[in-house]
Amino acid sequence: MQPTILVTGGTGYIGSHTTVALQQAGYRVVILDNLSNSTPAVLDAIAQITGVKPEFTQGDVRDRATLDMLFDAYKIAAVLHFAGLKAVGESTEKPLAYYDNNVHGSVQLLSAMQRAGLKSFVFSSSATVYGDPQKLPLTEDHPRSATNPYGHTKLVVEDILENLYRSEAGWRIARLRYFNPVGAHTSGLIGEAPQGVPNNLMPYVAQVATGRRPKVQVFGSDYNTADGTGVRDYIHVMDLALGHVKALQSCLQSEQDLLTVNLGTGVGYSVLDMIRAFEQASGKTIPYDLVARRPGDIAACWADTQLASQKLDWRAQKGIQEMCDDAWRWETRS
Ligand code: NAD
Ligand code: UFG
Repeated sequence: MQPTILVTGGTGYIGSHTTVALQQAGYRVVILDNLSNSTPAVLDAIAQITGVKPEFTQGDVRDRATLDMLFDAYKIAAVLHFAGLKAVGESTEKPLAYYDNNVHGSVQLLSAMQRAGLKSFVFSSSATVYGDPQKLPLTEDHPRSATNPYGHTKLVVEDILENLYRSEAGWRIARLRYFNPVGAHTSGLIGEAPQGVPNNLMPYVAQVATGRRPKVQVFGSDYNTADGTGVRDYIHVMDLALGHVKALQSCLQSEQDLLTVNLGTGVGYSVLDMIRAFEQASGKTIPYDLVARRPGDIAACWADTQLASQKLDWRAQKGIQEMCDDAWRWETRS
């Protein structure tokens, strides 16, 4: 009998790729998603890739009745919690929506798990919890801080998980701090589909390559980095997905654990490096302007990956060219 995993936010970008990895690793997946930032078409695409259509409930993680119904209906072994809002800029305009979805949603989910006697939980945290890095690479013990409501929701949920872990024996919790997920499944059938103008670099670059937008605006060329543009640790979304499978296995195998790990590659690339790699992948010239820094941005950020390697026996495998090739295949899907 395959263990059944509840994946909240499973039709979203990272959740859908992780669902593919979970199904391919032999797990049965039940998705809960309110479709606020995704479509049910993703379910057919997952079925095309894996041969199995995941079970799906359209619903909200803040809705306790739906959660109780799911925990009663399925014998769930663990929860992977992706559902939430993630736009940094929007979070400063609508902080209450962010605290409600991300913090209240997580509390509802954990309360329903507690009622159901289920204690294995994998949480989507973010490298944003490190604030402005005091030293690089970022190790998991680096001090945490938040400069915007989105980041603060991640800090609060990390703390809630620690409080819960200490309050009661038997919790098996992984707090995974993602660096910058990019790319798509190699099939080109699932990928990142931002609504409106993309906030993040790579979907924006992809839309410039297709001609949908005229130019990339490179935010800041006077950082203390090799070429003056911002440096990030871009990680292929399928590597990230496999990191979740490892974290889940680690949770299911332990008696109790509170694991906090970076999921990154350990290598930083600049905005201009990424534009060049995307030009290579697409065969297009990508015009750009060097403009002012984006408020709130940091100069550089990359992960120390030793803990993930030690604790999870996981390492990212794919480089930036594969990230860009796969993103381009997804962007130009028919
Ligand atoms: P996404 O928006 O593509 O996926 C999130 C999914 O959750 C969507 O399908 C959305 O419809 C659903 N959802 C949102 N609120 C919900 C709610 N209240 N109830 C049920 N479903 C809800 O985002 P993503 O990039 O896949 O991110 C997944 C998680 O990873 C988020 O928690 C995000 O904060 C975190 N994260 C993302 C990044 C990144 O750069 N993409 C980086 C670090 C952390
Ligand atoms: N950038 C541009 N032009 C754009 C968009 C971005 O030059 O149009 C630059 C940024 O200034 C930065 C780099 O590209 O130097 C990456 O920016 P992203 O917006 O793609 O990503 P961030 O590092 O700002 O943030 C992302 C997620 C956060 C998450 C963080 C984790 O958006 O939610 O990674 O490291 F917390």
